[in-house]
Amino acid sequence: MANQERRVGNALPRIRTDRTVLCLLKPKYAELMVRFRIENKHHLTRWEPSRTTYFYTPVFWKAQLAANIKRFQSGESCCLVMLNHEENEVLGVCNFTQIARGTMQSCQLGYSLAASHEGQGLMQEALISAIDYVFLELELHRIMASYIPDNKRSADLLSRLGFEIEGQARQYLRIDGSWQDHVLTALINPFEPGP
Ligand SMILES: CC(C)(COP(=O)(O)OP(=O)(O)OC[C@H]1O[C@@H](n2cnc3c(N)ncnc32)[C@H](O)[C@@H]1OP(=O)(O)O)[C@@H](O)C(=O)NCCC(=O)NCCS
Repeated sequence: MANQERRVGNALPRIRTDRTVLCLLKPKYAELMVRFRIENKHHLTRWEPSRTTYFYTPVFWKAQLAANIKRFQSGESCCLVMLNHEENEVLGVCNFTQIARGTMQSCQLGYSLAASHEGQGLMQEALISAIDYVFLELELHRIMASYIPDNKRSADLLSRLGFEIEGQARQYLRIDGSWQDHVLTALINPFEPGP
């Protein structure tokens, strides 16, 4: 709880990598998210929860982006939007959610990349910097991520980032309309002193 209180009011993160800028997007840029979501609707359907038509509207994203900023300030989540350097296109998202403090000091990681930017190492590049931020600035101990067993791109990405498989959970998340088994992985903060 102490950490959470200390973070209230902290500056919003803005992380520049070789090819991206990661930030909590302001609600006035909701149209960029709408474009990303509409253009990648088909690409992401198989790997995400079912969406209503409202999800693809500026009204939804204005409210969602405002809520993401509030949730960052209250220590609940850090939902980063990945922009190109010109900041006129959303390339993807890296969401660190369900931040638990107390004895846990953990969060869940989820991510999505535009179909047109797959296969270029962009998510890996963004996550290397985002994960450093989560460990060094948010001082979390463990990042957890899970994937559907046949999501090879996600499995390969997590493996390259050093996430280790900890188990398999049956009917873990409701994705694309049905409960799906997931492989559970985690990364422990390497910057902390040992146990
Ligand atoms: C999962 C997902 C983010 C992975 O995207 P990705 O582009 O494969 O991931 P990376 O950024 O690590 O890029 C690796 C790819 O870029 C290539 N690459 C090119 N240049 C590179 C560079 N400079 N550095 C690293 N990799 C590079 C790699 O060879 C690899 O391609 P390959 O798998 O075809 O060999 C993406 O497929 C996605 O959004 N999928 C849909 C949503 C989803 O599955 N979300 C996760 C749910 S668990």
